[in-house]
Amino acid sequence: MGEIIRRDGEAVFRQREASALMGLPSEDEAVIALGGGTLLDAECRAFAERTGTVVCLTARSETLEHRLRTDGIDRPLIAGADGEGLRRLLAKRSEHYASFSHELDTSDLPPQDAARRAEIAFGAFRVRGMGPAYNVRLEPGGAASIGPRMASVGLGGPVVLVSDRTVGGRYGRPIARALEDAGFPVSQLLLPPGETAKRPDTLARLWRALLDGGLDRGSTLVALGGGVVGDVAGFAAATFLRGIAWVDLPTSLLAMVDASLGGKTAIDLPQGKNLVGVFHPPRLVLADPDLLRTLPDREWRCGMAEIVKHGVIGDEALLARCRGGLDPVRRDPAETIGRAMAVKIRLIEADPWEQGARAALNFGHTIGHALEHAARFRLRHGEAVSIGMVVEARLAARIGLAQAGLAEEVSSILSGLGLPTTIPQGIRPKDLAGAIGFDKKRRNGEVRFALPRRVGEMEVGVRVDGWQEILGEG
Ligand SMILES: NC(=O)c1ccc[n+]([C@@H]2O[C@H](COP(=O)([O-])OP(=O)(O)OC[C@H]3O[C@@H](n4cnc5c(N)ncnc54)[C@H](O)[C@@H]3O)[C@@H](O)[C@H]2O)c1
Repeated sequence: MGEIIRRDGEAVFRQREASALMGLPSEDEAVIALGGGTLLDAECRAFAERTGTVVCLTARSETLEHRLRTDGIDRPLIAGADGEGLRRLLAKRSEHYASFSHELDTSDLPPQDAARRAEIAFGAFRVRGMGPAYNVRLEPGGAASIGPRMASVGLGGPVVLVSDRTVGGRYGRPIARALEDAGFPVSQLLLPPGETAKRPDTLARLWRALLDGGLDRGSTLVALGGGVVGDVAGFAAATFLRGIAWVDLPTSLLAMVDASLGGKTAIDLPQGKNLVGVFHPPRLVLADPDLLRTLPDREWRCGMAEIVKHGVIGDEALLARCRGGLDPVRRDPAETIGRAMAVKIRLIEADPWEQGARAALNFGHTIGHALEHAARFRLRHGEAVSIGMVVEARLAARIGLAQAGLAEEVSSILSGLGLPTTIPQGIRPKDLAGAIGFDKKRRNGEVRFALPRRVGEMEVGVRVDGWQEILGEG
């Protein structure tokens, strides 16, 4: 750059820069790093904003000075007395830089953390650590592009589209059409809505539909629905022909921020939840927040319970959003969903097979799963997790682990979201303790908990002596 500007002048450099940018093939997905002056040109800016998402990376001027002094690149536009040229340029361009809707201050962020924040802004994550890396996309209106997106990651047909009757009734046809338009032959299977679909005989139906649909090892199952559809359809994909590819289109808030991520698939047994399952990540997750417009209020709240969990585990700012109640999130859900996804993705990448840190995601779930089961599924998963988090945070306080006031704070955020925080009357502590005895998180016959010390700091595999008595105290 320095050489071209010195030899031919800035105008020539900008012309060449503009034609390089606009000559990029727009059908390929890519992250393009631009210089600070590229989008001063109105045509370049319009092109960039039309074809992608622009994130403006900023930093304090002292930080920039330090970085520029040490990177060894020749920059004639800011040459001059120590830092003077840079400050002049920043002042001249300040309005321009402030005009972008996504700004990311990188002053105090190591490059890896800055990249993670940028992923949230882009709504595009690449998940590594469990088999081949795969894309998680968060894109308003994105469901319509399911066909080309599947083709772009090399997925083949025929496709069996699995949904429940509620979601399939609304979105099954347009999604099937979008797949057919991209050349995938499609057959559909609709399951009954609700947790009861996560049982062994549903699997037999699913395997049958995969056979009838003519699927082979190069074919794809597409799950369109909440966590129930994802869990059971993912399990069918994991086991059919010893494993075929599947794609998850989560349609509930809970499935977008939690169930669709991390590759866990499972069904329930009469004795407890998720007792039979395997890790089998989807090859693509495409979360379209526009589909949440038809999600019932109760389901929104359930999704918020898992978002609170992710806030407690690892994102204070996300928890602060939850303090504002449901309405602001509902009006503009994308950023909140992205932040919540990022917490889970960070953990599953660090510990894909749940040998340690990933178990933090089980906060609220040891009690929650047992409650869901003891209440015979009259409590929704998110509601049971909400109560579970409060009870487990109290356990953490009782054993001197949690910071004072944390349990009360979690409880107040959850009730502000309209979620239950106490064990419903009619559920006997004895039944609850019995259901906890079947929890998968037992080790050597002992129940283990994932408990918070403070926001952003979890302790996993915690044994709590006398948890049964503490439960009995309500
Ligand atoms: N695999 C994992 O890592 C993981 C993580 C968390 C939860 N889960 C599982 O997920 C399940 C809970 O998921 P859930 O809360 O999404 O339940 P769900 O799949 O039962 O969906 C909730 C309800 O909302 C309806 N619905 C979904 N999307 C809709 C939409 N866009 N418009 C209208 N209605 C819609 C569904 O028909 C259903 O009645 C539980 O079985 C839980 O164990 C799995």
